[in-house]
Amino acid sequence: RKIDIAVIPGDGIGREVVPESLRILDLLSEIHGGFKFEKKLYPYSCDYYEEHGKMMPDDGFQQLSQHDAIFLGAIGDPKRVPDHIALWQTVIGLRREFQQVINLRPVKSLKGITSPLRGDKNFDFIVVRENSEGEYSQVGGTIHQDNDEIAIQTNVFTRKATEGVIDFAFQLANDRNHKLTSATKSNGLYHSMPFWNRVFTETEAKYEDIETELIHIDALSAFFVTKPESFDVIVASNLFGDILSDLGGAIMGSIGIAPSANINLNGKYPSMFEPVHGSAPDIYGKNIANPIGQLWTAKLMLEHFGYEEIGNLLLNTIEELLVDNVKTPDLGGNYGTTEFIDALFEKLKKQ
Ligand code: NAI
Ligand code: MG
Repeated sequence: RKIDIAVIPGDGIGREVVPESLRILDLLSEIHGGFKFEKKLYPYSCDYYEEHGKMMPDDGFQQLSQHDAIFLGAIGDPKRVPDHIALWQTVIGLRREFQQVINLRPVKSLKGITSPLRGDKNFDFIVVRENSEGEYSQVGGTIHQDNDEIAIQTNVFTRKATEGVIDFAFQLANDRNHKLTSATKSNGLYHSMPFWNRVFTETEAKYEDIETELIHIDALSAFFVTKPESFDVIVASNLFGDILSDLGGAIMGSIGIAPSANINLNGKYPSMFEPVHGSAPDIYGKNIANPIGQLWTAKLMLEHFGYEEIGNLLLNTIEELLVDNVKTPDLGGNYGTTEFIDALFEKLKKQ
């Protein structure tokens, strides 16, 4: 089976971790034998912007829509292109244009990593983030009134998207350990979060045997640090989910580990797989970026196409390396990006 993917390395360390991860994906398809990734490279990035005055050509979305999935590194180089332009014209635009209404972000303690935040606690949960609306809307503006300047940012919560993400999270909890936590803030946000809670309660009535809890985002952030082992599936709005999943990266030990998947549910457009981290201009070109976030993202892509076992083989082998202290500097090791990938390559080949 051929899986046709669009590859966008993007900027900064995306250009290091994406090609290295593709080496591993190729090896995995060799090991498995049942599938092959057909890859087309797209140069959309801040370099592209400097040359063309935009992040993508006018038919960029159209071209990308032809693929089965998009494998993305990271976009952004704020010294050259303002972030809101670089990201809205690419990552954020793609999530919306391709109706990738769900963002999945697994958080799991990996063997071999002890993070100062979590100690030796084991945890394994997944943040399900609404990915198309909510707090990240373009509704609003800046006005001048009564000798003041006022920025108004309107949150948009539709019943369709809210039900969609909450129902997805219930199904996921049903497939996992039957516990669902909803991130809310209905004491402070007057309209949006009481609505969110109401949809949650309505949806809950359709499911049996799922333990649920509503926790305010401020307290929930603290619980992520103090008792991450108590969670299974967490459902959150766009902004809350964004913050929680970066925190998830931190409790795992490094932002460089955390993966994510932007899922299109209606089958009309490709889903997009990208690590949580950005382009990290501060470490670009030094061969020290941790490739695990991109590799784990590749695992999510493998699962998406039904190759869960080969995805598990990948993550388990990464854990074996970590236990042997094969680590990049963000995890206290002294392996470079390519050296880590070389070690992974050799270990996978021996399986
Ligand atoms: P960042 O995630 O790029 O970096 C934050 C910190 O984490 C830096 O100190 C960096 O060195 C470190 N870090 C990140 N990934 C790492 C890895 N794989 N290995 C080791 N260390 C790692 O976030 P920042 O600095 O806020 O953003 C940089 C650029 O990336 C900006 O232009 C931002 O807009 C963009 N960005 C793009 C995203 C995307 O394309 N989806 C997501 C987040 C940020
Ligand atoms: Mg983020």
